[in-house]
Amino acid sequence: MAGLVAGFDKASEVVRHEHEAINSELSELEACLKALVCYSEVYADLSPVERLDRCGRRLQTTLPEHFRNEESTIFVDLETAFPRLQSFVQQMKRQHSDLQAGFDQFCHVLDEVDESNDVEQTICDLKQTGLDFTRAMMAHIATEESGLGGFAR
Ligand SMILES: [Fe+2]
Ligand SMILES: [Fe+2]
Repeated sequence: MAGLVAGFDKASEVVRHEHEAINSELSELEACLKALVCYSEVYADLSPVERLDRCGRRLQTTLPEHFRNEESTIFVDLETAFPRLQSFVQQMKRQHSDLQAGFDQFCHVLDEVDESNDVEQTICDLKQTGLDFTRAMMAHIATEESGLGGFAR
């Protein structure tokens, strides 16, 4: 597409691969969160929490890397080639900071599970913050993918 720098295709391919990897982590996260039950009788089985912990740790690295990658490559290219996309890019950047805050909140609750005095409430908070983040992140990726689809060659 005229106006886009030569590296854009390569950069958008990298972003798409990162989206696939993150989406697969989000599916795993969502499945674990749905397996969490907010009743005190079932806390003998904390295996979904352990799976959540592993998944959360991987995302602690890949998520900020992905946001940085988009903001330093394709977003710059799109804004430069198409100034009318500036508001879309700004909106995606704001979502990055909201999503990072939501994810940090989820990780904070995850860290509290072991030492909580009220495990039932903490598990409910974990489930809610986790599902809120997962759904928002999936929607964010879907928005970017449909935006990027318009620039695919
Ligand atoms: Fe993004
Ligand atoms: Fe993205």
